Amino acid sequence: MKITSVLSAFSAILSCTALVSAQSSPDPIGTIYDGRVPADLYGSNYTYPWPVKLFKFYNQRQKLTMAFMDVPARNNDKNKTAVLLHGGNFCGATWSDTARQLSAAGYRVILPDDIGFCKSSKPQGYSYNVQQQALNINSLLTALGIEQATVIGHSMGGMIAARYGLMYPNAVDQLILVDPLGLEDWVAKGVPFLPIDETYETQVVQNFASLKAYEQASYFYNATWKPEYDTWVSMLANIYAGDYGSQYAYVMALVTDALLSQPIIYQLPLLKTRTYLMVGQNDVTALGKAWSSATVAAKLGHYDVLGPAAAAMIPDCTFHMFPGLGHAPFLQDPKAFYEVLFSWLE
Ligand SMILES: *[C@@H]1O[C@H](CO)[C@@H](O)[C@H](O)[C@H]1NC(C)=O
Ligand SMILES: *[C@@H]1O[C@H](CO)[C@@H](O)[C@H](O)[C@H]1NC(C)=O
Ligand SMILES: *[C@@H]1O[C@H](CO)[C@@H](O)[C@H](O)[C@H]1NC(C)=O
Repeated sequence: MKITSVLSAFSAILSCTALVSAQSSPDPIGTIYDGRVPADLYGSNYTYPWPVKLFKFYNQRQKLTMAFMDVPARNNDKNKTAVLLHGGNFCGATWSDTARQLSAAGYRVILPDDIGFCKSSKPQGYSYNVQQQALNINSLLTALGIEQATVIGHSMGGMIAARYGLMYPNAVDQLILVDPLGLEDWVAKGVPFLPIDETYETQVVQNFASLKAYEQASYFYNATWKPEYDTWVSMLANIYAGDYGSQYAYVMALVTDALLSQPIIYQLPLLKTRTYLMVGQNDVTALGKAWSSATVAAKLGHYDVLGPAAAAMIPDCTFHMFPGLGHAPFLQDPKAFYEVLFSWLE
C-alpha cells in the first residue's frame, strides 16, 4: 500500500518532469525571424544600421527573443564569421563601425544583443550568469549554422567571450578581449554585497546625465568627452526612459549580481584559444566601486596592472595596452584600435 503510493507519486513526478521539459524546450534549436520588427523593440528605439533579426528560443523554462544583426562580408569573402559581444552599457549597435571594418576585411559579422539588453527580451525571473549568456550566443550561432567564429567581446562582453572560449574551445578560432570585466575578483578585494533591490533603486533612476557622468569618470577617465559618445549614452538612456525602463533596471540589478560572482580571472589559465587581450591604460572601470569604501575603491580597476597580469595567465596570449585610452578604445581611438586588431587577426 505504502510502496504503491510512493511508486505512483514517483511516476507522477516522472510524467510531470516529462511534461515540463516538453514545455520548456518545444524547439531545441530555436528559430530565426527576419521579417519586419517595430522601431521600438523591448524598450530600445535606437535605429540600428542593419536590419534587426530575431532569434526565438527557449531556456530556463521560458520563451526568449534575442535581437541581432547579420552583416555579410563585403569584399574578398574569407568564409569566416566574427561575433561582436557588447558591454553592459552598450548594445550590438555600438560595434557598428568595427563591424563595417570586419565586413570590408572579408568577415561575416554577427552582432547580438544579449538577453536582457537593448532590443532583446528582458526576462525578470532569469539567471543572468555569464555561462548562460555564452550558451545563448552559442545557440544563436548554432541556429545560424555557424560552427566556428572569431569572438570579440568588450567589457561585460569580454567576460562572456572568455567564458565562451572556455565552454566551446572548438567553436572559436580566435578570441579578442577588449577591456574585459572580471580581470579581478571585486568581492575578494572587499566589495560588499549590495542587496539586489538596492541596486535596482540605483538603476531605475538612471538618465542621460547620470549615465554620462558615470561613463566620463569610468570609461573616458582623464579624456575629453567627444560628441559622438553622446549617441551611446542616449541609446541607453532611452531604454531606461522607455516602456521597459523598470524591467531593464531590474535586469541590470540581476546582471550586476551575476557578474560580481563570476570574475573570469581564475579560469584564464584554462583558455585554449589564440587570444588577444587589449586594454586601455587609463581604464579604471570596476564593478562595485560606487558602493565600496574609499580604501576598497582605491584598489579596484587598475587595468594598467590587471591587463599584463591577466595576459601572463593566458597560455596563448598577445597583449596590447593602448596608451592614454580608457575602457572603450574602439570608440575613443578607432584608428588605433583597428590597426592593433587587424595586425593580429588571421
Ligand atoms: C567555409 O568554412 C567551413 C567551416 O569553417 C567549411 O566547412 C567550408 O567548406 C568552407 N567553405 C568554403 C567555400 O571554403
Ligand atoms: C591625463 O592626461 C594628460 C594628457 O592629456 C596627461 O599629461 C596626464 O598625465 C594624465 N593624467 C593621468 C592621471 O592619467
Ligand atoms: C525614444 O525613446 C525615448 C524614451 O522613451 C523618447 O524620449 C524618444 O522620443 C524616443 N525616440 C524616438 C525616435 O521615438
